[in-house]
Amino acid sequence: MRCGQVLKVAAMGSTLRSASVNQGLIRAASGLGAKYELEIVAIDLNLPLFNADLEKEVPASVLEMHKILDEADAVLFAVAEYNYSISSVLKNAIDWASRTYLEGRKSHPLFSKPAALMGAGGGMGTSRAQYHLRQVCVFLDMHLLNKPELFVQRWTGAGERFDELGNLTDETTLAKLDTMLDAFAQWIRLLKAGTEARDKARCSVECEKTVN
Ligand SMILES: Cc1cc2nc3c(=O)[nH]c(=O)nc-3n(C[C@H](O)[C@H](O)[C@H](O)COP(=O)(O)O)c2cc1C
Repeated sequence: MRCGQVLKVAAMGSTLRSASVNQGLIRAASGLGAKYELEIVAIDLNLPLFNADLEKEVPASVLEMHKILDEADAVLFAVAEYNYSISSVLKNAIDWASRTYLEGRKSHPLFSKPAALMGAGGGMGTSRAQYHLRQVCVFLDMHLLNKPELFVQRWTGAGERFDELGNLTDETTLAKLDTMLDAFAQWIRLLKAGTEARDKARCSVECEKTVN
């Protein structure tokens, strides 16, 4: 469904590997997203390790990430599974993102954002890591798309689903990703409409108070 309004989606991968299959998922999502008027932009997660001492002068790379997240309508996570959980690279980025640095902002830039999860890894397709991330997102007050879930097994009996550069080549997985993005676009629009209706209602209550 096309609505004539392009939605900005900030995508967070999980590892810094040049042939990362999770970055490959983001690239594939970026290609498919245009159909649903989603503009998907990958965030650079090559950030210093979080250290509260660095907050005296927040690193430029962190501020850049905050700006992208602040301007985004939603967040798409591509979750790698490391030792049955999320990677340190992703957790580090989330820890930085969970702080409030931008002028005029009262909350961190992930607050109240719609989000969706996908991930590629070993036999369980990153399901364990994705469920850990869901828990993290509760604290961040994000609104996650429940289903469809996307757990991609990187290695299959028939061969890899990604090429040597980490690009997604498997048609079945591409179709699943497409279905997930369709649902995600609808989810983002639903929440956006709800927020706008709430703000409008609040505004008319305030106006009435002023008039009376
Ligand atoms: C330290 C380490 C721990 C890992 N632990 C898991 C794991 O618990 N479950 C799993 O499915 N894969 C695990 N893997 C495999 C990664 O999920 C796999 O290498 C994946 O492709 C990494 O994501 P990337 O391609 O986006 O860099 C692990 C890999 C490393 C290096």
